[in-house]
Amino acid sequence: MRTVFWENNQVKMIDQRQLPHAFVVNAYDDYRAVADAIKTMVIRGAPAIGAAAAFGMALAALQSRATDRQTLLDDLDGASKILAASRPTAVNLFWALERMWRAATDERLQAADDVRAALVAEAQRLADEDVAINRRMAEHGATLIRDGDTILHHCNTGALAAVDWGTALGVVFMAHEQGKRVHVLVDETRPRLQGAALTCWELMQRSIPMTLIADNAAGYFLQAGKVNLVLVGADRVAANGDTANKIGTYKLAVVAKENGVPFYPTVPTSTVDLSLPSGSEIPIEMRDAREVTHIRGQMIAPAGVAVANPAFDVTPNRYLSGIITEEGIVRAPFERGLKEAVEKARARVRTFMETPE
Ligand code: MRU
Repeated sequence: MRTVFWENNQVKMIDQRQLPHAFVVNAYDDYRAVADAIKTMVIRGAPAIGAAAAFGMALAALQSRATDRQTLLDDLDGASKILAASRPTAVNLFWALERMWRAATDERLQAADDVRAALVAEAQRLADEDVAINRRMAEHGATLIRDGDTILHHCNTGALAAVDWGTALGVVFMAHEQGKRVHVLVDETRPRLQGAALTCWELMQRSIPMTLIADNAAGYFLQAGKVNLVLVGADRVAANGDTANKIGTYKLAVVAKENGVPFYPTVPTSTVDLSLPSGSEIPIEMRDAREVTHIRGQMIAPAGVAVANPAFDVTPNRYLSGIITEEGIVRAPFERGLKEAVEKARARVRTFMETPE
């Protein structure tokens, strides 16, 4: 099953807040509720957020009572702004909204109902492409994994973080499918515990051997020579390769380099933001204090304590061994390699749209 999909004119998504205890699929028929689901992390992970927003736009088109093209576009503009305000860091959200806007404003579509149909089709296409892209990325990434490797992983980057399959964890799935014996050290990923709750659940579904560790234990295992490779995802990669990912990634990258362990973000080109020259321009989401003072509803700090809760940090490009994309593994200098990868990916989508079969 996909993490997010379109069925009976509704957006459906696995409620990730309930895993691993319950597997629940929520149905949405209001784009505002989709925006809220992104904000409250029913769905999370950069590519999954992008796909949810795309389906949210399709929903907004069906919800609108507009009978003419311009009124529908005005309604869609409003919906796009509400969806865009849901989370700030994952650029896939804005990338998907821009793509949906391009589809909606196609001059060839003059009737409101044609625009509606085009948006539903475009969201479906974006979701299907996401799965295909992830598998291509996984094939490139799996070349880095040797039989018997132990891979350290942060957050959740599996099928739940995308439409299906996943990014960094998708690389591990691919190596496992190729028959390589792999072991995953799973960072629990405080404060929201995506590693403990979601990554462990996904690895278990696939019977891939793993060990759950507290985030603070990662340095111990890296220093002890027990890790062959660190794989993470990303929410936004600047033009120079600086990479924003789940809080704690930066610390992991520094300790990996200190211990000579290769460190690779795995990112679809939709996560690359060529408009930002470096990582210092990436907006970092600050989330609710309750995520730090509480663990799954249980208070663990004295009431009234001051809290800071940045959801992401930026790893400077000098800590990266390379960046795994669907167009291959990009190495330093990242500016040139990322630009080429983005251009290749765009050309591939154009060809796909011109000759869909
Ligand atoms: O706050 P989240 O759970 O949305 O953060 C997710 C991550 O940081 C992932 O590593 C990133 O989105 C890449 S997912 C394929």
